[in-house]
Amino acid sequence: MNAGNHRRRPSGEPGPRHAGVAGAGGNFAPRKRPAGGVKSAGGDGTVADWLAALDRRAELRARAGLTRTLRPRAADDAVVDLAGNDYLGLATHPEVTAAAAEALSAYGLGATGSRLVRGSTDAHHALEDDLAGWLGVDRALVFSSGYLANLAAVRGLTQPRTLLVSDAHNHASLIDGCRISGAETLVTPHADVAAVAAALAAAPGRPAVVVTESVFSVDGDLAPLAELHAVARRHGALLLVDDAHALGVTGPAGAGGVAAAGLAGAPDVVVTATLSKALGGAGGVVAGPAEFVRHLVETGRTFIFDTAPPPAVVAGVRAAVRLARTGDALRAELADRVAAAVRRLGAAGLSVSAPDGAVISVTAPGPQDATAWAAACREHGVAVGCFRPPSTPDSRSRLRLTVSAGVDRAGFDRALDVIVECAP
Ligand SMILES: Cc1ncc(COP(=O)(O)O)c(C=O)c1O
Repeated sequence: MNAGNHRRRPSGEPGPRHAGVAGAGGNFAPRKRPAGGVKSAGGDGTVADWLAALDRRAELRARAGLTRTLRPRAADDAVVDLAGNDYLGLATHPEVTAAAAEALSAYGLGATGSRLVRGSTDAHHALEDDLAGWLGVDRALVFSSGYLANLAAVRGLTQPRTLLVSDAHNHASLIDGCRISGAETLVTPHADVAAVAAALAAAPGRPAVVVTESVFSVDGDLAPLAELHAVARRHGALLLVDDAHALGVTGPAGAGGVAAAGLAGAPDVVVTATLSKALGGAGGVVAGPAEFVRHLVETGRTFIFDTAPPPAVVAGVRAAVRLARTGDALRAELADRVAAAVRRLGAAGLSVSAPDGAVISVTAPGPQDATAWAAACREHGVAVGCFRPPSTPDSRSRLRLTVSAGVDRAGFDRALDVIVECAP
């Protein structure tokens, strides 16, 4: 088990993914101030020194095969998409875009304010009611991203002396939630229920929260949610589950991993999710007991001090929720494609994860190979995710394939051939 005393690293620098999770009271260390003169924001030298230091760090990342570049996507882009998260193809569904267009003309472009000021439209409240009904919880609260929802949820669950027990494969937003909460965080090996039990047993009488994803974002495997809940309950701890990659994809009526594990509405479980994956939109949600949602409305910094998500997006997501709830046929098609991909890539001798949702990880020999592999796929008209440290929970580089029921089937099958043919 990792005792959570990892060092903090600048974002994008090579290093372990869970690095920087604070130990007891682990807050940001104040930066040393340079003495006198026109000094840079980056340390003890001048602005020129600072920029040169940034260049040197970029050079180090390049040598390690960790350069990251932005690539603009055209609206009529013909690439077969195995990199996005539009699992059900709802981002472009006519009912979704029509609902968004209607709200766009009705409300205008932005929400015009934070939720507690002018940003809380009837569209936001209707979406929250629909999400609460779908997830089987008391209340749901919409944020402008899943990242901000996770920051608020982790921090909101933390009280004095709280111990956070966080899975080693957790997403950066959960890790950052642990960091900004200031609570002691124990990082347990991935999906290791015994390690979670041991961590809780070693902290008797302390408030504790077990923090996990459901379907993990890198390898696509499912956390042992029922077992984690049983252990948490035995020790009087709460369970926080980020259902980002399961909502719309698994569970009864697509209600996600928590519902699939029979935990919907449990008073000691809090669920978060993004609205940007299977729902094809943007935003995030925290769902759970009414008392906790009220606590976030009144104290959640990433809720209070953030402009509300645009009403048009919210209305589009609401239409997507309707379609996802009744989307069993889409989910069956998705599962069929995931199985076909695992079969095809496995038969070609590639090392493929055993996915529980629509995320498939294919191991690459190293970061440079992963980059070259993804680039070759792109040249052949196929977009795949390329995950390298520090975006991976271990030192392994991967192609990450995210399967969508919305992609043309013939194109999808051809894309699998391309991935095999371009393998290093
Ligand atoms: C597991 C997980 N949680 C949270 C997020 C953040 O959600 P959002 O993109 O809406 O900020 C992501 C990725 O986007 C994710 O993969």
